[in-house]
Amino acid sequence: MSNINKKLAQDLTWCVNHDSLTGLPNRTVMRERIVSALQRARRNKSGVAVLLIDVDGFKFINDTHGQDAGDMVLKMIAGRLHGQILLGEAVARSGDNEFILLCEQVEQAAKMAILAKNINAMLHQPIDVAGLALLVTVSVGIAIDQDGTHSADDMLRHADTAMRVSKEQGPGGWQFFCAQVHEQSQMQIMIAHGLRTAIARDELSPRFQPIVVAESGRIVGAELLLRWHPPEGPVSPALFIPIAEMTGAIVEIGAWVFRQACLAEADWRRRWGVAAPYVSVNVSTRQLNNESLVDVFAAILCETGADPARLLLEITETTLMSDVETNIRILHSLANLGLRVAIDDFGTGYSSLAQLTRLPVSVLKIDKAFIDGIDRNPESRAVIRAVIGLGRALGLKMVAEGVESSDQQSELCAYGCDLIQGYYFHNPLEEKTFVDTVEREIQKGVTSSVEPLHFLIYISTAVEPMSQAALDALLKQSRLYNRPAGITGCLIYQDGYFMQMLEGKREVVSKLMNKVKNDPRHTDIRTIVEGKAPRRVFVDWSMELRDLVPGPNEPDFNDWQSRTISLPELAEDARTCYTYMMAYMHAGIVH
Ligand SMILES: Cc1cc2nc3c(=O)[nH]c(=O)nc-3n(C[C@H](O)[C@H](O)[C@H](O)COP(=O)(O)O)c2cc1C
Repeated sequence: MSNINKKLAQDLTWCVNHDSLTGLPNRTVMRERIVSALQRARRNKSGVAVLLIDVDGFKFINDTHGQDAGDMVLKMIAGRLHGQILLGEAVARSGDNEFILLCEQVEQAAKMAILAKNINAMLHQPIDVAGLALLVTVSVGIAIDQDGTHSADDMLRHADTAMRVSKEQGPGGWQFFCAQVHEQSQMQIMIAHGLRTAIARDELSPRFQPIVVAESGRIVGAELLLRWHPPEGPVSPALFIPIAEMTGAIVEIGAWVFRQACLAEADWRRRWGVAAPYVSVNVSTRQLNNESLVDVFAAILCETGADPARLLLEITETTLMSDVETNIRILHSLANLGLRVAIDDFGTGYSSLAQLTRLPVSVLKIDKAFIDGIDRNPESRAVIRAVIGLGRALGLKMVAEGVESSDQQSELCAYGCDLIQGYYFHNPLEEKTFVDTVEREIQKGVTSSVEPLHFLIYISTAVEPMSQAALDALLKQSRLYNRPAGITGCLIYQDGYFMQMLEGKREVVSKLMNKVKNDPRHTDIRTIVEGKAPRRVFVDWSMELRDLVPGPNEPDFNDWQSRTISLPELAEDARTCYTYMMAYMHAGIVH
């Protein structure tokens, strides 16, 4: 063979065995290496591990930054993996965004977990792609053979299964293949299989969870929730929906769900006219990505005669933000059909606020995670208040999810939330029960169920001048009591006078006032105004110490000042007092 031919043959062999982009061996070569490693291990009675390394969100990198960027990322990862391998290890590229690492002489499984962690740590250094610093994570599935019973294909399959389980738990993780993982994957296969025929076998059914007016509890809408009951027994939606998403079955199931929603809307409108509740339906990422979604929904609307304006599509914030440009386009097409759109689980998905204004959205659903702490936790309250403020500014309706107590209801009303949904009012109901419930409500009429918020402002005279330390102690003591009691407010101390605003449930505020009235630190306590408050002014407990010496940021009033108005003078007019208190909150100077 001539030298040229020899070189050509070598090049050809190299190409057959290697991945041209990264220069790493390919899957076929790696499979052979695993076969040999397993044979050696059987002879030496040692262990072998196969790590399947899958780049998280690779499609997103390709879609957002272009394929060249994606290629660059793969090359960098290949380089870093190759640079890290030790004697007895080998690395290969096995698919689009997958690498395989083979380790021999494995004595302890725990070392493989450390290796998996190190791989992610190594990727923590940003990858520079055309001036962009990309942060990449990988999900790692680990299969180990310690008794010489597995084939190379078993190892690759097990590592792949473990990697998928790891991915489901979030990016940047690792997972061993074990009996549990095996069981889980078998169950997933069974569920995926069952779902394919669930519609044909009539195993799906809708439930309707009422959505009510925050203040009165009157039903104005319903979220359609899906239930699946195959002959072996019901399967939780938390289990089957992600699998339906993964396999794509959600596209057909989603269309079925939308049809049920349309049928319900048309039926309810026939029964109750414009007073009929609207219907909310969940739409998943996979459905949104399906080209024919708009046509399918249009056909179902036409066939069922449903009013699109009374149907609300719920799309999670994470789904929306995963590919904003495409989703904006699709949502506009859906909105053009007359459908309305809600952002579901709002507050959990890092929305870009600028993008929010570009989406044809009319409702924000505040995630249960924030509702849980609202009656106890000032941070949750601050978030709710900010989200409601944002929603109002954008002209959106707000729905709070997962409301489970009357205290949570009161708080949400106090911050101006429009609608709520949760076990405190209703469980998800079968359609007949839902219809009966609405029917009963219409006949009985609904009266307000929420206790209105009470507020009170008083003024008093300090018995002796309060030092900063004494005021700090008072603030600490007040916080301790007021937070769990659901009282918010503000205490101002100025020039020997106190002015205090308290907000909360009527009986709780009255109980506190009785204690405060007996406090020897002040006297001449006079209530300026009290009554029902439409909204809570303060998020938490706060206090302001005002001395009349000009502060560094205060304008020069000397030429203008004829006299200074004291707190008692301010207290002559209840409205001015209220405005003065509000000003503290809005200026953000209270702590
Ligand atoms: C001007 C002023 C305002 C006060 N505000 C509160 C308050 O908002 N919450 C609170 O728990 N105590 C407040 N206190 C303290 C209460 O009067 C009382 O000392 C405290 O509730 C402890 O009462 P106890 O020992 O009976 O539990 C305030 C005291 C003064 C002088």
